[in-house]
Amino acid sequence: MQIYLDTADVNEIKEYVELGLCDGVTTNPSILAKGGADIRTAISAIAKVVNGPVNVEPIALDYDGIIKEAEEYSNIGKNIVIKLPMIKEGLKAVATLKKRKIMTSLTLVFSPAQALLAAKAGADFVIPFVGRVDDGGAYGTEMVAQIMQIFQIYQFKAKVLAASIRTPMHVIELASAGVDIVSVPKSVLETMLKHPYTDAGIKKFLEDWNKKKT
Ligand code: G3P
Repeated sequence: MQIYLDTADVNEIKEYVELGLCDGVTTNPSILAKGGADIRTAISAIAKVVNGPVNVEPIALDYDGIIKEAEEYSNIGKNIVIKLPMIKEGLKAVATLKKRKIMTSLTLVFSPAQALLAAKAGADFVIPFVGRVDDGGAYGTEMVAQIMQIFQIYQFKAKVLAASIRTPMHVIELASAGVDIVSVPKSVLETMLKHPYTDAGIKKFLEDWNKKKT
């Protein structure tokens, strides 16, 4: 399972690249708006730090506008993935960008039905939103498990990139379902990494070691 960081903070990305735990990045307009820096500058900096795919979402919702922004972003680096909304204009853009050898993802996917169409349209990545499905009273990781099952039956090439991940249990349930990629905020990775028994164990070892020396 690959891990992407769901952030536009280049320092967070650098840290997790150094830990060997960042295979790619997802951004979205909300995340980029928080950063304050010029968007192109921010994306260029991220694309240099990460070896893997960097997802960037055009703001335009019309086909011509999407293609224009997609071309501008894709010039930044070979690892740029154009992240498109799961609407007709997004699907149409996938077909055009595929011909131009530009990678695409379809985002804001909230059902197996949408995921099926996104994969058939030829997107490289399909992005179901786990936490927001939970917010709506359904079971986000179960939706992703169903998507995985469908993709396996038909051997779709699209990778399932689960996003809107809020807890370590989301990650574990997605890993158990065999999801290809999870995109997580740094806060979730930090929680996954830590365990009070690890800290207690380190403390005890050091205490015992220091006793022996004195
Ligand atoms: O990239 C999409 C994801 O970050 C959304 O997460 O927690 O706002 O639903 P959330």
